Amino acid sequence: MQTNMKTLREYIKEAEEKGVAIGHFNISNLETLHGIYSAATKLNVPVVIGVSEGEEVFVGLEEAVALVQTIRERDNYPIFLNADHHASFESVKNSIDAGFDAVIIDAAKLPYEENVAVTKQCVEYAREVSKNTGRDILVEAELGYIGSGSNIKDSIPEGAGILTNPDEAKRFVKETGIDLLAPSVGSIHGLIKSGKLHINAELVKEIRQAVGIPLVLHGGSGLRDEDFTNAISSGIAMVHINSEIRLAFKEAVEKSIDTNPTEITPAKILQPAVDAIEQVVEARLRLFNKPF
Ligand code: G3H
Ligand code: ZN
Repeated sequence: MQTNMKTLREYIKEAEEKGVAIGHFNISNLETLHGIYSAATKLNVPVVIGVSEGEEVFVGLEEAVALVQTIRERDNYPIFLNADHHASFESVKNSIDAGFDAVIIDAAKLPYEENVAVTKQCVEYAREVSKNTGRDILVEAELGYIGSGSNIKDSIPEGAGILTNPDEAKRFVKETGIDLLAPSVGSIHGLIKSGKLHINAELVKEIRQAVGIPLVLHGGSGLRDEDFTNAISSGIAMVHINSEIRLAFKEAVEKSIDTNPTEITPAKILQPAVDAIEQVVEARLRLFNKPF
């Protein structure tokens, strides 16, 4: 049974006060959820599970909610569910209605005024549902452009990496009323073979100061350790990792099948993938929660 657990909003506030960041990790299957949860419980830190629109279809909308809520209530553990990168009001609304704790309206590619309009609509809906249900649903939105797709890219895609302007961010937050902002501060979604740029920690600081709400760093895969720590000490309160987990899963499954080609028991084939994901997530969580 759940006993007086803090809300995700309160955990984020607490992370900011401690100068650490909450890890946000995407899933598209149960093995990934198990690997992430094992790592989080090992360090005893709160964790956010994300499902993008595609991941949500694969897992199932209600199934995703049931999985995370079951663990949270069974273990009284701070594990939360986020609708990651949802592109329309309708898909945000579906996630809110299904019971998600947080949503991201991803309209950063739209012209500014259109981004404001759809983000505002999502915030108004989240507030109304929160009021009627006693939940505290968080809404995050993006400004600037950090590319799309948690995949492997040869180089930084054309047009990605449009940095967020602090003054525009201030206006955006005021006009939309969002709870969390995903700024573009140097990171790009995915693993980039030619390497990622450094995080612009000064810009993180300026944006955090201008907007007055917590900031979320997207595109965490492949960033250098010092970029994470600089970003967190400059004002990032949550970090998203996806591609590294996907790669760990794929490599572990390939190796497992190569090593035991006659094995047909899914649990045996997939256990190495759960372990590999746990290792990736544990390493990231140690970094986000220094001095672990
Ligand atoms: O929302 C998900 C992320 O921002 C993941 O980015 O694939 O670079 O880890 P990543
Ligand atoms: Zn992202």
